[in-house]
Amino acid sequence: MPAFSASAPGKIILFGEHAVVYGRPAIAAPVSQVKARAAVSAIPGGLPGQVRIVAKDIGLDCDASELGPAHPLAQAVLATAERLGVSRLPALRLQISSTIPIAAGLGSGAAVSAAIARALSAFLGHPLPDDAVSSIAYQVDQTLHGTPSGIDNTVVTYAQPIWFVRGQPFELLRVREDFTLVIGNTGVSGPTGVVVGDVRRRWQAAPEAYERLFDEIGAIAAEARAMIEQGSPAGLGPLISRNQAILQALDVSSPELDRLIEAALRAGASGAKLCGAGRGGNMFALVDPDRAEAVSAALLEAGASHTIITTISKT
Ligand code: PMV
Repeated sequence: MPAFSASAPGKIILFGEHAVVYGRPAIAAPVSQVKARAAVSAIPGGLPGQVRIVAKDIGLDCDASELGPAHPLAQAVLATAERLGVSRLPALRLQISSTIPIAAGLGSGAAVSAAIARALSAFLGHPLPDDAVSSIAYQVDQTLHGTPSGIDNTVVTYAQPIWFVRGQPFELLRVREDFTLVIGNTGVSGPTGVVVGDVRRRWQAAPEAYERLFDEIGAIAAEARAMIEQGSPAGLGPLISRNQAILQALDVSSPELDRLIEAALRAGASGAKLCGAGRGGNMFALVDPDRAEAVSAALLEAGASHTIITTISKT
């Protein structure tokens, strides 16, 4: 059997994280500069059922059975086999590599699951369509943090900017004018499950106040969609900063994120916010393309462990 490989990009939530879990709309886009990749090949002479998982980035080289069924990599394999009705896999080796920082709000987990579902299903002779790939990545995310909205798995699978409302079919966004972002990593990991759980507890304690904040975030996402689709992305800066102010009110920002956001604004960005669950991970800033390098340098100076300059391109 030949080897099969597949990949999925990272992602950035432009508007609407957290509120999206509570039914408000959100906007996300792929970040193609970073990628997760999975490659599946046969183990000649191996015993059926043996799945060797090799992920050098995280120092892993063992049989899936040693990881246990709750491990996200084993889950992605099991969910794919189940979807195809394969009860016993042929002996295979699954190699995973990724340049997407882990627990950093850039969709690493969902991208790894999507790449596994694609590579494994192709290896088994039945490449799964995107909706099945996305739903496998969703299933794995669910076991990691209980109540995922589904935005991560959707954007990394379809690899296009999307308008997303939980429980509804997603829409591809029509981007009329390119715009440039600088993404900065705090280097601090942001545990999605913990942060999402904290927001839930606060919402349970003060539902009306939190519903109002989620409404405001949803309204910002709707304004942003109109600007992106009308081709006036320069107007997004103040919306990005307003969204960040509400994320601060939700208590999901952090001193490290705030420091990078301030540094980007001082260096000329027109708006900046955290992306993903927060309390660590990444932030991004909207910039004029000719200010991108200067903003990136300012972020590194302010303590970012890494920056990415990316363009959300016309679709
Ligand atoms: O931290 P990430 O990249 O997994 O993004 C989480 C986004 C949330 O809105 C906070 C949760 C969700 O499931 O949508």
